[in-house]
Amino acid sequence: MKANRELGIIVYGATGYTGRLVAEYLNSQYGVGGDVSWAMAGRSREKLEAVRDELGISAKVPLVVADASEPASILAMVERAAVVISTVGPYQLYGSELVAACAQAGTDYVDLCGEPNWMREMIDAHEETAKKSGARIVFSCGFDSIPFDLGVLFLQEQAQQTLGAVLPRIRGRVRGLKGVWSGGTLASFKATMAAAAKNPELVATLTNPFALTPGFTGAEQPSGMKPTYDDVLESWVAPFMMATINTKNIHRSNMLQNHRYGADFVYDEMLVTGPGDEGEAMAKAVAEDKSMANDPTRPGEGPTKEQRDTGFYDLLFVGETADGKTIRAVVTGDMDPGYGSTSKMIAESAVSLLKNPDLGSGGILTPASALGDVLIDRLQRNAGLTFELEGS
Ligand SMILES: NC(=O)c1ccc[n+]([C@@H]2O[C@H](COP(=O)([O-])OP(=O)(O)OC[C@H]3O[C@@H](n4cnc5c(N)ncnc54)[C@H](OP(=O)(O)O)[C@@H]3O)[C@@H](O)[C@H]2O)c1
Repeated sequence: MKANRELGIIVYGATGYTGRLVAEYLNSQYGVGGDVSWAMAGRSREKLEAVRDELGISAKVPLVVADASEPASILAMVERAAVVISTVGPYQLYGSELVAACAQAGTDYVDLCGEPNWMREMIDAHEETAKKSGARIVFSCGFDSIPFDLGVLFLQEQAQQTLGAVLPRIRGRVRGLKGVWSGGTLASFKATMAAAAKNPELVATLTNPFALTPGFTGAEQPSGMKPTYDDVLESWVAPFMMATINTKNIHRSNMLQNHRYGADFVYDEMLVTGPGDEGEAMAKAVAEDKSMANDPTRPGEGPTKEQRDTGFYDLLFVGETADGKTIRAVVTGDMDPGYGSTSKMIAESAVSLLKNPDLGSGGILTPASALGDVLIDRLQRNAGLTFELEGS
């Protein structure tokens, strides 16, 4: 069914801060009229035309008008494409009709969602429909959660190949990171906090590492919420903002791959702040930092090109086998995590789905369970990421 669609990929939200970057990347990487056909979508034709012209994109790239508040326009859009990329967030405000329509129409879908309450709602409401229609719906195809979800998969695969063992314990450690937030990300964070303030039941979802594995609760997990001295790294570590969404996605990846990491898999994710008194003081300062709640950046705004180009990330994954052997992997990105690198990651996720229509089956999936090695390969060839073993 998907093979007969008029368009390959639709970038929905192409007028927003991140959506523009995705359109720019598809244009420079895949051009117009090649084997990856793509279109730009949003709620205003005038704005789409202006963005297309401003980015120097050919007028041959189709423009599709669809408004999140008009379900008929959303359904008409998803029926035209094999894959929809959505950067229209906060997803809990604007995304539900789109996921429902993709699940119904058998259209593949990727987004940048880091809102676990909404993701759980979508799983409960649309998983069965997506399984039947063949729609591969993949949330969190940006910095949260691709480098973490695929970093864990990569390390498990390497451990199986080199040690012949699974890793029941992995520590995800952010060793270095440079970037700033966009207004859309701040709005999504604030929407989740506002929803939790109205409905205290949501707090249980936000704090449960198994919130996205309905029917399955695994081993007790470290909370990751307090500054701690990490004996394995010989360094202080602090709570990491993205850990709440990444850990949930990683446990869902494990479940969707029939628990290939083990049913008792334990994972935590923290920010490395260094050894000694200085490392401890820094870990405490990070834990107390509330600047995100007061950041005045508005939707549509985000880091400058220079900030994106000079950003980076360096993520360490330390795995332990049941008999105490360790293995380490590093994942790096060549631009700021949230936008420069994210726009390349989500675009390559969509291209992976487009070029591999028979990979996996329909459902509400994660990057590792839906795309795995296919995506690791594309990200390394095209998107400036590296996946390597360290110290071996
Ligand atoms: N996971 C990650 O690593 C990651 C990274 C980056 C971003 N994100 C997420 O991506 C989302 C977008 O962020 P952003 O900074 O790019 O946001 P943004 O600049 O505010 O863009 C939002 C987009 O949504 C569109 N939109 C709003 N209401 C709409 C409606 N009713 N119908 C159709 N379109 C509508 C806007 O269209 P107009 O231009 O017409 O207003 C705009 O194109 C956020 O949820 C953010 O959290 C996640």
